[in-house]
Amino acid sequence: MGLGYVGLPLARTAGAAGLTVTGWDVLRQVVAGTNAGRSHVRDMTDHEVRGILAAGFTATTDPAVLAAAETAAVCVPTALCADRAPDLDPLPLAVGMVADRLRPGTLVVVESTSYPGTTREVIRPILERTGMTGGTG
Ligand SMILES: NC(=O)c1ccc[n+]([C@@H]2O[C@H](COP(=O)([O-])OP(=O)(O)OC[C@H]3O[C@@H](n4cnc5c(N)ncnc54)[C@H](O)[C@@H]3O)[C@@H](O)[C@H]2O)c1
Repeated sequence: MGLGYVGLPLARTAGAAGLTVTGWDVLRQVVAGTNAGRSHVRDMTDHEVRGILAAGFTATTDPAVLAAAETAAVCVPTALCADRAPDLDPLPLAVGMVADRLRPGTLVVVESTSYPGTTREVIRPILERTGMTGGTG
């Protein structure tokens, strides 16, 4: 989730490890460009993007793909606001999309940078509003 400097290379690595990877992003131009074999991040070449596409990777803006995911890796941006406070808004939005489609046993990994306690205080309550309990498989 989030096909930027973290998400796209992670998709490459996961695919190379044999996992089937679908990339989700909110930006249509990111999804369209990636599916057309164009890289928008410095750490990956167009050739490498075409390689992951040939290996089965697809990108989409459709959150319905999350319903089939065994693992959701959240790589959305968490920038600093003008007052230097962290802007976490994309994070609960993305995790909420996972929660709406969560199945028992799904692994949710947060790669986005945040302050200590975010997983316990922000992420976990969103996932547990489903009635499922984190860490119980
Ligand atoms: N875990 C790590 O090792 C590590 C390393 C570097 C950065 N990070 C963190 O990973 C996160 C992603 O960094 P990046 O450099 O890949 O960011 P980026 O801006 O390059 O990419 C983020 C992508 O997420 C998309 N996105 C998805 N949902 C979004 C939403 N709700 N609102 C806005 N954009 C949304 C954007 O369109 C964009 O394509 C940041 O929090 C960063 O600090 C983690």
